[in-house]
Parts: sequence; structure tokens; C-alpha cells
Amino acid sequence: MPILSLQEVSKDYLTDGRAVHALSDVSLNVERGEFVALVGRSGCGKSTLLNLAGAMDFPTSGKVFLDGVSTSSLKDSGLTQLRRERVGFIFQSFQLLHTLTVFENVELPLLLSGKPNPRQAARERLAWVELEGLGDRYPHQLSGGQMQRVAIARALIHSPSILLADEPTGNLDTTTGSLILELLRRLTREQNTATIMATHSPEAASLANMLVRLRDGEIQEITRR
Ligand SMILES: Nc1ncnc2c1ncn2[C@@H]1O[C@H](COP(=O)(O)OP(=O)(O)O)[C@@H](O)[C@H]1O
Ligand SMILES: [Mg+2]
Repeated sequence: MPILSLQEVSKDYLTDGRAVHALSDVSLNVERGEFVALVGRSGCGKSTLLNLAGAMDFPTSGKVFLDGVSTSSLKDSGLTQLRRERVGFIFQSFQLLHTLTVFENVELPLLLSGKPNPRQAARERLAWVELEGLGDRYPHQLSGGQMQRVAIARALIHSPSILLADEPTGNLDTTTGSLILELLRRLTREQNTATIMATHSPEAASLANMLVRLRDGEIQEITRR
């Protein structure tokens, strides 16, 4: 069973009485261990697809299955739990909480779920992203690349089924961005999760084992290698 399945998914937004077809009839299956690059011009629907995949939003028609569960079938509490525990989000702007330490940022999703031993899990995730020893720092004491590593550690705290990354290297220089891409690729394999990354980076596209190209909300090509 694919970890993520989009079946004939369309998404329309209504603005000022006009419908914008952000996605049209998109079908896509992603398995565990796959490292997917989602590419295409600005406005082609990449972020919309990620939001639907993470159950942050719902299709106008068609279905999205995450771990075999239709996201549209869930009620509030089930949805919150699905988003928090099965999905890890990584953003261009890192989205760390600046009044919390690195440890506290990484632990937060576990605390919200009432899980025991958050510090132990956070230490382990920080080791995965090679930031051991920086847990007591605050975000402003880190470089951009280190902040993104903390965000990745946080996204992995629940050992999610999928990682969704929206332009994860967009705010980083090329060298730092390359290290982050390598890290995401390694963690996808080691943790046997699936990563779907919207990106403008040609390097990201070349590292991916599946390339999905969108154009005006439609899938133009899917290449696996
Ligand atoms: N919340 C929204 N309300 C109205 N239109 C939206 C909304 N989000 C995205 N869109 C529109 O949907 C299309 C796809 O946007 P988006 O998924 O953000 O593309 P990308 O991430 O590839 O740049 C664009 O035309 C955008 O303007
Ligand atoms: Mg976008």
C-alpha cells in the first residue's frame, strides 16, 4: 500500500467570485523510502499539493489517502492527531519558536501529544541531524543551516509516515542547501519514510528518485529512477 495516494484530486479556490483551478485531476502514489521532488513554475500548485498531502486542506474532488486513510473522512480530533503524528512539515523559513531552546522546539510536538520522555527522543533526533550538543541554544544562536536541521529534527519527532518540505533550501546558500538535501535524502532512507519536497533547486531534482513536474495544476510528467 502506498504511504500517500492522490486519486484524481482537484482543488479549486474561490477568490472574488472566480474559481482558480490550483490542481486538476492529479493522481500520484508515493511509497515508503521515496524521495520525491515536486517541480514547476511558481503558482503551478506545489504548495497546494503538499497541503492536501498533509491534511492541512482537502480536495474539491477526488481523494487523498495517507497511510490508507482518506483525509476527508476524519473529524477534528482524528485530523489533529494524523497531522501531528503521521506528517512532518519542513518550511523554507524554518518556523522555529524563538523563545524556546532547540530541545524545546524539537520536543514540542511530543508534549502536545502527551507522549513520555520527550527529551530522550529529542536527543536522538538531534543526533540524526548531527546537532548533538546544541540542544540548550536558542534559534538566534544558530546558522540558517542549523535552524533547518532543528526543524527537520522536530518534523521527525513522531517518526512520521511522510515528510513534506516546501522549498526547504530556499533560504539557504548553495553549499548549505546541498548539505540539507543530502541529509533529507539520507534520513528518508534510514527512517524508511517518504519525503515530498517542493523545490526550485535543480540539485534537489537530480537527487530525487521520483520527479513530479506540475504545470498549471496538472501533472506534466512523473519520472522515477
Ligand atoms: N488560499 C488560496 N486562495 C486562493 N488561491 C490560492 C490559494 N492558495 C493558492 N492559490 C492559487 O492556487 C494556485 C497554486 O498555488 P500554489 O499551490 O501556492 O503554487 P506554488 O506553490 O507552485 O507556487 C495559484 O494560482 C495560487 O494563486
Ligand atoms: Mg509554493
